[in-house]
Amino acid sequence: MVFRWVLLASAQRGSEMKISVGESVLELVRGDITRQETEAIVNAANSRLAGGGGVDGAIHRAGGPRILEECRAIGGCPTGRAVITSGANLKAKYVIHTVGPVYRGGGRGEAELLGSAYLESLKLAAGNDVRSISFPSISTGAYGYPIAGAARIALNTVVAFLEESGAVWLVRFVLFSEADLKVYEDELREIGAD
Ligand code: APR
Repeated sequence: MVFRWVLLASAQRGSEMKISVGESVLELVRGDITRQETEAIVNAANSRLAGGGGVDGAIHRAGGPRILEECRAIGGCPTGRAVITSGANLKAKYVIHTVGPVYRGGGRGEAELLGSAYLESLKLAAGNDVRSISFPSISTGAYGYPIAGAARIALNTVVAFLEESGAVWLVRFVLFSEADLKVYEDELREIGAD
């Protein structure tokens, strides 16, 4: 895949990286996704939309019970797809719940399903006039996807979408640890060097 991007900022000690893709911006930051002020934040949910630990637990705790009520009304979400609820008590107006694959060695379509989780989330955002969105690192916690491979898929999918569509202006990856942020930064540099 060939695409053009421009490095806008890169802090020396690995705290933040920002690039432009077409008219849009892609950022990597370390932080807590529940505190983001983007119009939408993405939840790494399960297919029952039943809540859980990790990002999912944090979002439901911070957003309040209304999000789970809306999830129950929707009913569920297959792996690789996405659904949308309000942000309830969060700063974000919407939560986009997507379901990444459980990693079982890589031979069960995990890569395609992970790419699809990102792409479906972005399409749903664009369809709801969302201009700014924050993603966590989907599938790399409880679902066990090795983070370097997951980061590459996440970043390739987002960059390809931003190149094709001007609908979303800001995509922010919010990484929970310095180590995860570093992996995403390294993968983004490699993508740019391809
Ligand atoms: N903000 C940003 N990232 C976070 C936060 C947070 N508040 N909390 C955890 N993370 C990070 C984790 O450190 C991990 O790197 O999000 C990444 C994804 O981990 P999980 O939340 O475990 O998501 P996933 O691997 O997709 O597993 C989904 O976990 O709790 C359940 O209901 C959820 O069954 C589903 C499964």
